Amino acid sequence: MVKWGVLSTANIGRAAVNPAIQRSSNGELVAVASRDGERARGFAEAHGIPRHYGSYEALMEDPEVDALYIPLPNGLHREWTIRACEAGKHVLCEKPLALDAAECEEMADAAESAGVLLMEAFMYRFHPRTERLAALLRDGVVGDLRTIRSAFTFRLTKPDNIRLDPDLGGGALMDVGCYCVNVSRTLAGMEPAEVMATARWTERGVDDELTGMMRFEGGLVAHFDCSLTMERCEFVEAAGTDGYLRADAAFLPGTGDVVLEEHRGREGLVEHGVAGADEYLRMVEHFADCVLQGTPLRYPAAEASANMRAMEALYRSARSGRWEPVVAP
Ligand SMILES: NC(=O)c1ccc[n+]([C@@H]2O[C@H](COP(=O)([O-])OP(=O)(O)OC[C@H]3O[C@@H](n4cnc5c(N)ncnc54)[C@H](OP(=O)(O)O)[C@@H]3O)[C@@H](O)[C@H]2O)c1
Repeated sequence: MVKWGVLSTANIGRAAVNPAIQRSSNGELVAVASRDGERARGFAEAHGIPRHYGSYEALMEDPEVDALYIPLPNGLHREWTIRACEAGKHVLCEKPLALDAAECEEMADAAESAGVLLMEAFMYRFHPRTERLAALLRDGVVGDLRTIRSAFTFRLTKPDNIRLDPDLGGGALMDVGCYCVNVSRTLAGMEPAEVMATARWTERGVDDELTGMMRFEGGLVAHFDCSLTMERCEFVEAAGTDGYLRADAAFLPGTGDVVLEEHRGREGLVEHGVAGADEYLRMVEHFADCVLQGTPLRYPAAEASANMRAMEALYRSARSGRWEPVVAP
């Protein structure tokens, strides 16, 4: 069993990832740390976590902890991931892995030097429907893949949320657009060559709405919109010469059975049923398997750097108003 610790009392840990670790077949959640000792204690008691610490440093020093799950605000991912690696802990860090590609590379180097694993927690990639979508595309069911369309929007009502804070790495692209970029690159099977974006900026300077386009070699185009101001919408479509595949609730489908739609123009619609699964559980079990067996991660940290390079170029374009190249490392 992998012994996990969680850094902070974050909502996403409480609601999804911590319970997944607790249910996992190859891991247990043994400790939580918070900046506030009383908060750590209350959280540990409420969620059946055996040990609690009043500082992140103290959790780093717990010799029984093998792996840390880090759901801190984006602007703190780099510092605490590097410190965790230096303390010899494997790290599953929330998305987006860091604020830019250079930070991602620094974190990947720290993990490599310490001989520990580092993965970005994009859980949707572990859902069997996402895997099925990629497999159907590889089988050529849509013909020649020409366009990938996606969206991830929701309405944020609390002005003090970390997603609106420029100092903590806020923004719509950072928070939800990162999924659209990730799924587009994954389904394209290559990196975009150039990108274009337009955004709306808050007074504090974060994008609360952003629409982006990514051009790949061979003329494949991905376009998406992401927002912190619009009613919830999540989907991905992969469209080709012979038809298109569509997944609704593409990133957060819940644990029930889901459908992958195959649209074939006048020939109609084929619905591929996919049995429900917990994508968070599948992600943490994969990570723990790799820790226990010393096998490679499906998504190494270099993957996160590539995602961030595309996101950096999208931000450059949103400010310059021009197509911007995605700069290779
Ligand atoms: N994969 C997913 O499905 C998913 C979903 C939502 C969010 N996320 C990612 O998870 C991360 C956390 O998001 P969240 O919504 O769970 O955040 P959140 O509820 O606001 O929690 C962040 C935690 O970080 C700690 N923290 C340390 N310094 C802080 C600071 N200066 N300001 C605020 N909090 C600070 C706090 O814990 P203590 O006070 O206990 O130390 C806080 O509870 C982000 O990277 C986000 O992108 C992923």
